[in-house]
Amino acid sequence: MRLKDKVAIITGATSGIGRAGAILFAREGAKVVVVGRRKAAGEETVRRIKGMEGEAIFVKADVSKASEIKRMVDKTVQTYGKIDILFNNAGILPEASKKQLKDLSEEVWDQVMAVNVKGVFLTSKHVIPEMIKTGGGSIINTSSNVGHIAMKHRSVYVTSKGGVTLLTKAMALDYAPYNIRVNCVCPAVVETEMASAFLKTAREDEKLWGEMMSKIPLGRVGTPEDVAYAALFLASDESSWITGSSLMVDGGYTAQ
Ligand SMILES: NC(=O)c1ccc[n+]([C@@H]2O[C@H](COP(=O)([O-])OP(=O)(O)OC[C@H]3O[C@@H](n4cnc5c(N)ncnc54)[C@H](OP(=O)(O)O)[C@@H]3O)[C@@H](O)[C@H]2O)c1
Repeated sequence: MRLKDKVAIITGATSGIGRAGAILFAREGAKVVVVGRRKAAGEETVRRIKGMEGEAIFVKADVSKASEIKRMVDKTVQTYGKIDILFNNAGILPEASKKQLKDLSEEVWDQVMAVNVKGVFLTSKHVIPEMIKTGGGSIINTSSNVGHIAMKHRSVYVTSKGGVTLLTKAMALDYAPYNIRVNCVCPAVVETEMASAFLKTAREDEKLWGEMMSKIPLGRVGTPEDVAYAALFLASDESSWITGSSLMVDGGYTAQ
C-alpha cells in the first residue's frame, strides 16, 4: 500500500475530485479526514471508505474560516495523532463569476478568492506546524490548467488558480528545509458537479462540444480518478524528490 500508516486531510472531499482522492488514499492505507461544508455528503464519503474496510472521519469546515480550520486540524491530531498529507482541493467556480471583468461584482470576486486562495493559505498555515513536529509531509494543491493559461470570462477563477500555482512554489521554497514538499495538480475539464452545467450545455451543442474536444488531444474529459491518481503520486514517498511542481492532468490541453 502506497500510503500505509499516513494521515491525510482532504478538503473538498464531499464530492468530485476530493471524494475520489479520499477513497483512493484510504484504499492505499491512509487514514483520511474528509473536509467540506455538506455534512450528509461528507458522511457519504466516509461510509464508502468504511465499506471497503478503510479508516476515515468527516469534519465539517469552511476553508475560508480560520476558526473552523483550526478546529478541524485539532480534531485530526486528537483522532489520529499527526498529519502527513494535506490535499488542498476545495474550490468554487460560481455561475456569477463567469462574466467579463467589468460585469463581475466585488462580492463574487471576494468569494472566489476567499475559498480558492485564502482557503489554501489558511489550511496550510494550520497544518504545517503539525508536519514540522513530525519531520515533514506532502501538500498537494488543486490548481487548474487555467492556473497556467487564461480563459475568456473567467478572470477571477483564473486569477485564483494562478495564485494557487505560485503559492505552491512559494510554500515549496519556504518549507523544503523542513522536508515538507508542496506540489499542485492542474486538471482541465473534469466530470464533476463543478463542471456539470457546462458539460451538459456542451453535450447538447455539437459545435461547442467539437471546439472543446479540439483543445484536448487525448479526446475526452477527465474523471475525478484521473486527478486523484496524480495526487496519490505526489502524496506518496514515490515523489520524494519533487517539490514546487505543477502536474498537468489535462489530456494534453496545455501542451499545444
Ligand atoms: N471539474 C473541473 O473541471 C475542474 C478543473 C480544474 C480544477 N478543478 C478544481 O478541482 C477542485 C475540486 O472541484 P471538483 O471539480 O471536484 O468540483 P466539486 O465536486 O464541486 O467539488 C468542490 C469541493 O469543494 C468543496 N468546497 C467548496 N467551497 C468550500 C468551502 N468554502 N469550504 C470547504 N469546502 C468547500 C465542496 O464541498 P462543500 O460544498 O461540501 O463545502 C466540494 O467538496 C476545485 O479546486 C476546482 O477548482 C476542477
